Amino acid sequence: MTSSLAFCVLVLSATTLALDNGLMRMPPMGWLAWERFRCDIDCKNDSKNCISENLFKDMADRLSEDGWRELGYIYVNIDDCWSSMQRDSQGRLQADPDRFPGGIQNLARYMHDRGLKLGIYGDLGTHTCGGYPGTTLDKIETDAKTFAEWGVDMLKLDGCYSNATEQEKGYPLMSQALNATGRPIGYSCSWPAYQGGLPPSINYTVLGQICNLWRNYGDIQDSWDSVLNIVDWFMTNQDVLQPAAGPGRWNDPDMLIIGNFGLSVDQSRSQMALWAIMAAPLFMSTDLRTLSSEARAILQNKAVISINQDPLGIQGRRLLKEKSGIEVFWRPLLQSASALVFFSRRTDMPYRYTTTLASLNYTAGTYKVYDVFSGQVMKNLSDTTAFTVSINPSGVVMWYISPSENESRHPEEEAGEYPHFRRKYRVSSLRQHTENFPPHIML
Ligand SMILES: *[C@@H]1O[C@H](CO)[C@@H](O)[C@H](O)[C@H]1NC(C)=O
Ligand SMILES: *[C@@H]1O[C@H](CO)[C@@H](O)[C@H](O)[C@H]1NC(C)=O
Ligand SMILES: *[C@@H]1O[C@H](CO)[C@@H](O)[C@H](O)[C@H]1NC(C)=O
Ligand SMILES: *[C@@H]1O[C@H](CO)[C@@H](O)[C@H](O)[C@H]1NC(C)=O
Ligand SMILES: *[C@@H]1O[C@H](CO)[C@@H](O)[C@H](O)[C@H]1NC(C)=O
Ligand SMILES: *[C@@H]1O[C@H](CO)[C@@H](O)[C@H](O)[C@H]1NC(C)=O
Ligand SMILES: *[C@@H]1O[C@H](CO)[C@@H](O)[C@H](O)[C@H]1NC(C)=O
Repeated sequence: MTSSLAFCVLVLSATTLALDNGLMRMPPMGWLAWERFRCDIDCKNDSKNCISENLFKDMADRLSEDGWRELGYIYVNIDDCWSSMQRDSQGRLQADPDRFPGGIQNLARYMHDRGLKLGIYGDLGTHTCGGYPGTTLDKIETDAKTFAEWGVDMLKLDGCYSNATEQEKGYPLMSQALNATGRPIGYSCSWPAYQGGLPPSINYTVLGQICNLWRNYGDIQDSWDSVLNIVDWFMTNQDVLQPAAGPGRWNDPDMLIIGNFGLSVDQSRSQMALWAIMAAPLFMSTDLRTLSSEARAILQNKAVISINQDPLGIQGRRLLKEKSGIEVFWRPLLQSASALVFFSRRTDMPYRYTTTLASLNYTAGTYKVYDVFSGQVMKNLSDTTAFTVSINPSGVVMWYISPSENESRHPEEEAGEYPHFRRKYRVSSLRQHTENFPPHIML
């Protein structure tokens, strides 16, 4: 990139302040029930596929035993339909006793015992979207306290059954109420999604001081159309959304649907690549017990996760929308590295796209290229050398790029910290799982 463009992006990011709870300096990663399991509360025949404590424990087992946790997937998040239809005698929310016989507190302990975190769902309004008790303005403090007492680590606050005025009051109030509990609780706000997601209804400077992440747009569904619709909305509005993101404050284009029924392997790689470019939270909503090996390989791809988790936290942009149906995306990363995604919206056959790094505004020099999904390496690609990538219909080619001439290591690494992952894991245990990581070390 020309230094002027990179500079401009950095300055824009720095002007938006983050919520001061110290959480989610990198996009949060984990598992969220909604897209795959919805509001299935019919546990009579199948208590492991309905919204129940068994489902969340099963997912925690998979996250902690199948290598997910070490990659950063640490949140296990409950969505709607977990609660009883009535508050308890003291006006507190309570879990449905049949489906969560151990209660939420025990479920939180189950997560913590495995090095995981528990997320819960609430709704600012009279009812949740599924018709369960909502959090009206007078209940905000009570509910924040209840969640903190249970040991919850994250709250997604939906916005069904409230109006704009109540949301303008309620979302900041919940932020203060969570803070007042003294427990660090990541805060996901659905507020923008209920107000069109754009200024002037939404002031992203203010939002970044209230919430750690926010849903800007409609719910993802299990289809490629839905993924495209979301990508188009985020990219059409990138001038507003891109500067809003940064460490501790993220745009959330919604869950990863990889591993479900709606996406091909190429489309799954596309979702993963574009979510990494967007610095999006990575919440899988899929059945981790029955995941295909192709889906697992995509979701556990260390290079793409490393790009998503880049510590600078600068959201990427769409650079080009070619008449051919090829789109080019770019994200700046730590240490003058960057990611490029070549995305095909074509429907005919693999397309050979030819360009140069110079025409994508890379500065003069030679670069090392690591192809994130094929593992191929290209050394010493000059900015002026034409190259060709072959992109499948609805697929991507994703590159991790770093300047060739400088082999200096991350300063954080030398200080004993691994910048691409959360602090929680000691470097020694992480290294076992992250040999050859981050990707430029492979080159
Ligand atoms: C549950 O199982 C019973 C007995 O096997 C069966 O008769 C019933 O139709 C099942 N209900 C559902 C909703 O699958
Ligand atoms: C929003 O709802 C409140 C009731 O909680 C009502 O008093 C107020 O008039 C409503 N505002 C708008 C703009 O509809
Ligand atoms: C509450 O906010 C203050 C700053 O306003 C911050 O220093 C503190 O860490 C926050 N506490 C929690 C638990 O979020
Ligand atoms: C957003 O709110 C901030 C702080 O109140 C204010 O300074 C800024 O002008 C607002 N931005 C827009 C676009 O209204
Ligand atoms: C490269 O930079 C120029 C000048 O800032 C700009 O007009 C052009 O759109 C940029 N090209 C790409 C592919 O970003
Ligand atoms: C690539 O460039 C580096 C630094 O300019 C040089 O040391 C190395 O020999 C080059 N490798 C190849 C294969 O040309
Ligand atoms: C490589 O990095 C070092 C230390 O950051 C810097 O002093 C040097 O100028 C860099 N070399 C090149 C060729 O960019």
